[in-house]
Amino acid sequence: MNTDNFNVDVTDKQVSFFQENGYLSIPRITTDDEVEWLKGIYDTLFNERTGEEQGRYFDLAGPRAHKGRETLPQVLGPEAQFPELRETIYFKNAQRLAAKLLSVEREKVGGGGHMILKPANYGNETPWHQDEAYWNPEVLPHSLSVWLPLDRATLESGCLHFIPKSHKGDIRWHRHIDNDPLVHGLVTDDVDPSEAVACPIPAGGATFHHCRTLHYSAPNSTDQVRRAYILVFSGPSKRLEKPAHRPWIQEEQEALAKLKSLAADGE
Ligand code: NI
Repeated sequence: MNTDNFNVDVTDKQVSFFQENGYLSIPRITTDDEVEWLKGIYDTLFNERTGEEQGRYFDLAGPRAHKGRETLPQVLGPEAQFPELRETIYFKNAQRLAAKLLSVEREKVGGGGHMILKPANYGNETPWHQDEAYWNPEVLPHSLSVWLPLDRATLESGCLHFIPKSHKGDIRWHRHIDNDPLVHGLVTDDVDPSEAVACPIPAGGATFHHCRTLHYSAPNSTDQVRRAYILVFSGPSKRLEKPAHRPWIQEEQEALAKLKSLAADGE
């Protein structure tokens, strides 16, 4: 695939908008051909439930290892199985633009992906959260996410909504969805959704959000699947002298350890 001649750029105005508001939407980051090619890899990963044993495939909105229908399946690190994902137009443009938006040299920005699928008609909401709430409390990251839909992202199919400027505040109090620490997905109640801005974009477009920006996406009420491939890019982070207080992370680790020991007892 020739990836040399599809360089997408952002203006200085867009960079300032991102730095001021914590999000940015662009109508295109890759070609229609590449979106089609990505769909093939995407569908393979979800149909084969790649990495389920290693915890790289699970339902973000349901308890670990539940037997029911998944409402928000997720694949972590798809580039491990398909290294060619790192050579795509999408990856290259996303990395270059991430460096610009983070004001870091491109060589110092590294990242990887995950994929979140909202099945047709019953794909769950992704409730309000900040990505940094999931992460290591000993580190202050300098990161953003690039969100590429492979299907048109509308209000009805589950486009992203953002709270402008929320990246300038602290990490809000989070809890696990359904208050179940075996559900990986987090939600915060400390948010005013009336401040939200929705960002519908076409397939092949992208939204960017800072790791502290509050974001949400609605359930998929359409009869089409909504596939999204997200890349998280980080510049140099700082180690915190005093770790942040995020007890929901430990609650999940303890619940998982308990589940494992129960499974071992049952063997
Ligand atoms: Ni998120």
